[in-house]
Amino acid sequence: MANRPIVIYGDPVLREKAEPVKEIDREIKNLVADMITTIQDANGLGLAAPQVGVSKRIFIVDLSALDLAESLRVFINPDNPEILEKSGEVVLEEGCLSFPGIYQKISRPEQVKIRATDIDGNLFEMEASGMMARAILHEYDHLEGKLFIDYLSSISRALIKGKLKKLSAAS
Ligand code: NI
Repeated sequence: MANRPIVIYGDPVLREKAEPVKEIDREIKNLVADMITTIQDANGLGLAAPQVGVSKRIFIVDLSALDLAESLRVFINPDNPEILEKSGEVVLEEGCLSFPGIYQKISRPEQVKIRATDIDGNLFEMEASGMMARAILHEYDHLEGKLFIDYLSSISRALIKGKLKKLSAAS
């Protein structure tokens, strides 16, 4: 297992729609193992394959630092998360490993349901709320080439324009 460099905003791979995983072979298992070391090393809560430069439909969520009952979860070829509670939009400060130093208040649904395949090839379904729901929605977006800054108002976006420019210039 090795760390892979995290792709920073400005890299076109972050805007691509990721390809489905055809088979969970050695290459995919190595990728997931590397993503796990990478997220742990970066103290991240979530990481999608495009963020390590691989345009495949895989993401991981690890909320174990916030909740001891939680463990790291791997989502392969997830379905579009189903919103269970539309009335429960919650505004929380959000960040992304591809946007170092940028944290913004983003509104997201409180409860979702998602179906995906795990690393052993088993299909699973889970209902999630709170931070887990937020992480799932954020990471799923990465597979669609969507980024959390896309949810900002034009004013909020204008306020971080300089920071974004610096990130994309360095990437
Ligand atoms: Ni992100």
